[in-house]
Amino acid sequence: MTTIVSGSASQTLSARLARELEVPLAAVEYDRFPDGELLAAAPDFDDDRAIVVASTVSSDTHLELLQLQDAVREAGAEEVVTVIPYMGYARQDKPFESGHPVSARAVARALSTGADRVLTVTPHEEAVCEFFEPTATAVGAADRLAEPLPDDLEEPVFLSPDEGAIDLAETVRDAYGDGETDYFEKVRHSGTDVEITPSDVDVTDRDVVVADDIIATGSTMSEAVGVLQERGVGRVFVTCVHPLLARNAVTKLRRAGVEAIYGTDTIEGQTSTVSVAPTLAAEL
Ligand code: R5P
Repeated sequence: MTTIVSGSASQTLSARLARELEVPLAAVEYDRFPDGELLAAAPDFDDDRAIVVASTVSSDTHLELLQLQDAVREAGAEEVVTVIPYMGYARQDKPFESGHPVSARAVARALSTGADRVLTVTPHEEAVCEFFEPTATAVGAADRLAEPLPDDLEEPVFLSPDEGAIDLAETVRDAYGDGETDYFEKVRHSGTDVEITPSDVDVTDRDVVVADDIIATGSTMSEAVGVLQERGVGRVFVTCVHPLLARNAVTKLRRAGVEAIYGTDTIEGQTSTVSVAPTLAAEL
């Protein structure tokens, strides 16, 4: 039998996954010792297969995941499947300067030690899966992003903020069933300074959906939306798999004139309108 064990940042998704798979959800406890050290535990876990579901949205949740993997093994699990709906540090997949670590590789190696199998949802680059041993499975969830879009989009255009995410925009368009696709050219000058060059497609009075794998600071999306507003666009919707929405991202996007922000529950928050539970369940 299988039991789902949830990290603190993935409790809603874990419950949805347990319902999809019709398996129990373990009781979990997240505590902290007086010296500040964390303690994540699954006191009643008593099964031979664990699916540990934990988005690593912070350093603490990384550590929690390591502890939960270890806790279920200690309690007798013969198979530990680790689901990382959102993998933190995945975008640090190369040393950006001399002396920098490959952080994605470092965390993947650590998490591999406690897992027999790893799944992660729409990583920024699929190559990050190869940092795991054995190689992790990338589960694509972009098709889910069409679900909350209004049915009445006016001559829709599905854009990605850079060429690398065009597949994602195409997947959303295909799932929606109608519309043109294109991409912007993007140059990143710093963590929050992004320059966007418009695509050639005519967006005048048309509804546009800008789709990306992640919205972090919102700089990429708000620049893209700004360009669209200058071109007389109709409504603009932004959608992403991982709605990290750090700092003032929501305000930036709203000020840029975005009609709605949609994301999935790989990162749980107010914009997590779509669940990846059915997609993950199909892989488990
Ligand atoms: C980068 O290529 C990614 O696909 C995203 O466009 C980027 O990480 C979003 O970051 P931010 O919201 O900080 O611009």
